[in-house]
Amino acid sequence: MITILTLLSLNYMTRDPSIRIVLLPKDTNKHGTIFGGIILSYIDLAGIIEISRRTDQKVVTVLIKEVIFKYPVYVGEIVSFYCNITKIGKTSISLHVDVEVEKNFKSNLVTQADLTYCAVDNNGKPEPIVLKYEPEK
Ligand SMILES: CC(C)(COP(=O)(O)OP(=O)(O)OC[C@H]1O[C@@H](n2cnc3c(N)ncnc32)[C@H](O)[C@@H]1OP(=O)(O)O)[C@@H](O)C(=O)NCCC(=O)NCCS
Repeated sequence: MITILTLLSLNYMTRDPSIRIVLLPKDTNKHGTIFGGIILSYIDLAGIIEISRRTDQKVVTVLIKEVIFKYPVYVGEIVSFYCNITKIGKTSISLHVDVEVEKNFKSNLVTQADLTYCAVDNNGKPEPIVLKYEPEK
């Protein structure tokens, strides 16, 4: 029987991740767990996707703050990357990413990261952020 707790734990099905992926054998190390660097590259990609919802400008990654892996990910598991914008500066946008893996109808936190991206012009110099729309106050 489905309990209320089970239903609550299914909230990963209704949240909107920037990316949801299934990891493949090519992504593993020799112990069968997923390379941290693979997750790291998806974190950066998720951030870029979230930023592209806010601006059409060219952006580069400036900062990926300390990433600690707390929960293992294995081949075939579904991993979701949830992003939240934390700051819109003059030329930069910062965001937080939660990486979660689904196991037995439960979402487990694999890692978290804080990233900063900078808008750049054609010469690679910082330029002011131009949002596609103003965020709600
Ligand atoms: C990003 C880059 C253009 C910034 O140039 P810069 O001369 O340092 O410019 P600034 O010091 O004015 O910083 C630009 C913005 O980035 C932010 N920033 C710079 N360094 C930062 C850091 N260590 N942490 C957080 N934010 C940082 C600044 O706060 C500023 O944001 P704001 O205008 O909203 O306040 C330059 O460092 C660069 O080209 N880096 C390489 C980026 C890249 O190629 N990334 C891909 C990985 S290979």
